[in-house]
Amino acid sequence: MTQQQILELAIKMGTKADLRGVEAVAKYLVRQKKKFEGLSAKKQADFDKERLVNPYMDSGVWNDSGKPVKKAMAGIDVTSGDIMLAKSLGVDTIINHHPLGKGLAMLDGGMHLQADVLALCGVPINIAESLMKVRISEVGRGVHASNSYKTIDAAKLAKVNLMNVHTPADNLVADFLKKIIDKKQPEYVSELVELIAGVDEYKESARRGSPVKIFAGSEDRRAGKIVLTEITGGTEGAKNIYREMANAGIGTVVAMHLSEEHRKNAEEAHLNVVVASHIASDSLGMNLFLDELEKKGIEVISYGGLIRIKRGKK
Ligand SMILES: [Fe+2]
Ligand SMILES: [Fe+2]
Repeated sequence: MTQQQILELAIKMGTKADLRGVEAVAKYLVRQKKKFEGLSAKKQADFDKERLVNPYMDSGVWNDSGKPVKKAMAGIDVTSGDIMLAKSLGVDTIINHHPLGKGLAMLDGGMHLQADVLALCGVPINIAESLMKVRISEVGRGVHASNSYKTIDAAKLAKVNLMNVHTPADNLVADFLKKIIDKKQPEYVSELVELIAGVDEYKESARRGSPVKIFAGSEDRRAGKIVLTEITGGTEGAKNIYREMANAGIGTVVAMHLSEEHRKNAEEAHLNVVVASHIASDSLGMNLFLDELEKKGIEVISYGGLIRIKRGKK
């Protein structure tokens, strides 16, 4: 497989696992196409054509010799040092999780997913979109200043292939957790914590000092309606969404990570928030994807914090 084919597989798997559903993703791409067609020739020339086929612009191929990949190094946060490590290990590519380059600069672009997911959980779409709009522009300004091509430059100089898979992998986490929660339907927050903590990546994370944690609410409280609104969709959502979520009948939010301000607002809205832990969650998503690559004969070495757990061959 080439890096481009690996990215295509990630998009395919991420779309299938997307909480919005496959049709909603297809509809989003159709809308991009319509927008593109409505542009002037000059604006069409400036339009990033990748947006017409990739619904997850925070993922991409950043340095590519076109060489087929037999051995990959996969992790969460790549550094220039990891690139030198990849070179000495003789791997054909680095597959990073967190966005790089233009993918980082466009992190805000994929966050509209969160509004759709909130709407599916009962928050009126107009409220979800309105609050997310503020948050998306905030994230957009935040990443605007980042030195997003630093690591890509190192990869180019070292002649090491580099790509990243972000939202497609996070979609796999959300889908995985949704399935186990739907199946078990935990009544108490403690039962929800126990359920998530039983997944191998979270077990290892607990051993590493970051267990599944209740950030708002307590283990003796009833979970109520559990939602996975803070697992995928770029980064943390709108700070002032929690009251609206509570009004929509939501009881508990499962998140990857949560800022202090988000936490306070969730608590004030009487919501429970279970933070599954960040790196273990990112690892789970990457693992579900990497297992597929291994099935296709690619050898995978983990780096950069990835807790590599292999799941049984189907
Ligand atoms: Fe992630
Ligand atoms: Fe992450």
